[in-house]
Amino acid sequence: MLVYENVDLQPHNSFGVSANARYFSAVNSFEELRRAFQFAKEKRIPTYVLGEGSNVLFSRDFPGLIIKMALTGVEIDQASGVVRAAAGENWHALVSSCIGESLYGLENLALIPGSVGAAPVQNIGAYGIEIASVIKHVEGLDTRTGERFILDAKGCCFDYRDSIFKKAQGAHFVISEVTLQLHQDWMPDLSYLSRDKEFTETLVETPEQLFSLVCRVRRRKLPDPRLVGNAGSFFKNPFVSAECLEELKTRYRDLVWFDTNDPGVKKLPAAWLLDKLGWKGQKHGGAEVSSMHALVLINTASATGEEISVLADRMVASVFDEFGIVLEPEVRIL
Ligand code: FAD
Ligand code: EPU
Repeated sequence: MLVYENVDLQPHNSFGVSANARYFSAVNSFEELRRAFQFAKEKRIPTYVLGEGSNVLFSRDFPGLIIKMALTGVEIDQASGVVRAAAGENWHALVSSCIGESLYGLENLALIPGSVGAAPVQNIGAYGIEIASVIKHVEGLDTRTGERFILDAKGCCFDYRDSIFKKAQGAHFVISEVTLQLHQDWMPDLSYLSRDKEFTETLVETPEQLFSLVCRVRRRKLPDPRLVGNAGSFFKNPFVSAECLEELKTRYRDLVWFDTNDPGVKKLPAAWLLDKLGWKGQKHGGAEVSSMHALVLINTASATGEEISVLADRMVASVFDEFGIVLEPEVRIL
């Protein structure tokens, strides 16, 4: 296991912001993962686990050890539909491989940036599907004991952009492998996508066509992090009570909202709230609200993490002042 000192994290986060890591190590095996935590314990420094950095904002230097998950390996068992992938594998590549092996269930989650190991952390979701629906189990290192843990989907406590791994009771779990249960039969979920104008103009009769459609819709709606630094949706979509929704509807006739499984709870698109307040194109230093999507903050050139964070705080304050709703960041801010 190699440990580097004073590493610039700029190539390791999709915002492309600079921040210094006191120590940095890319771990290739479970044993190296264990040793990395041992190293930090001996030095009495904090640790932070990093995948591909597409959902993090480094707002300042990190005084401890960044542990970059670089474990690789994929096993696909076509007959049973069970797929096991190591944490450092790329998520989109895995989606593509599974479709190539005629195993289905991941098509709607195509082109989500990041690693396999981070996918259960916020229960990645898009176009009506969440990874929770295909998780068989998640394995890794329990950093309290130094032993392996294994959790099934129920144990992961998945929710909208949430899981046990984001909570205090699961913060000591580091995911090294994810096992999925996919399907030989294709049972597409087109409900969310059918709202998109591109859907009505496209033939979607095969999993490959669905995969391509999802990629096209995403490329149209979201800036490409390889070209413009961003972390996708900066905030989660808020939930409000049905009464609150009725009150908002009287004030905003064009309000957009979505039903949830609970008739008393409605979901609002944070992008709509921000767009309504004219946030698209607003700037602070090198940080800007994307003109493609009001929920996406971009690094126009050389933004600092602090500038992005200040802009985000101003957006939260303005949504609260106008709508009385508190936006919560989806992006993990360090
Ligand atoms: P990182 O950013 O490296 O880490 C994210 C968090 O997970 C951190 O808290 C980190 O400590 C933790 N973590 C990482 N790996 C592990 C591990 N092995 N064990 C334990 N904890 C770990 N997300 C969606 O859900 N849906 C979308 O549609 C979507 N679209 C996006 C579009 C764009 C353009 C971008 C840039 C991002 C988008 N995201 C989306 C967010 C992002 O893709 C996901 O959150 C993804 O899972 C992050 O993976 P990562 O490897 O980059 O994680
Ligand atoms: N809208 C605006 N202005 C905009 C963009 C959108 O008013 O600039 C409104 C439109 O009315 C639109 C609605 O917001 O109908 C929803 O927009 P969109 O379909 O783009 O979805 P979203 O709610 O903004 C969520 C996820 C995305 C995911 C898509 C597709 C969250 C926080 N975001 O975005 O996930 O890809 O749905 O399922 O839940 C991410 O997590 O990083 C991410 C990109």
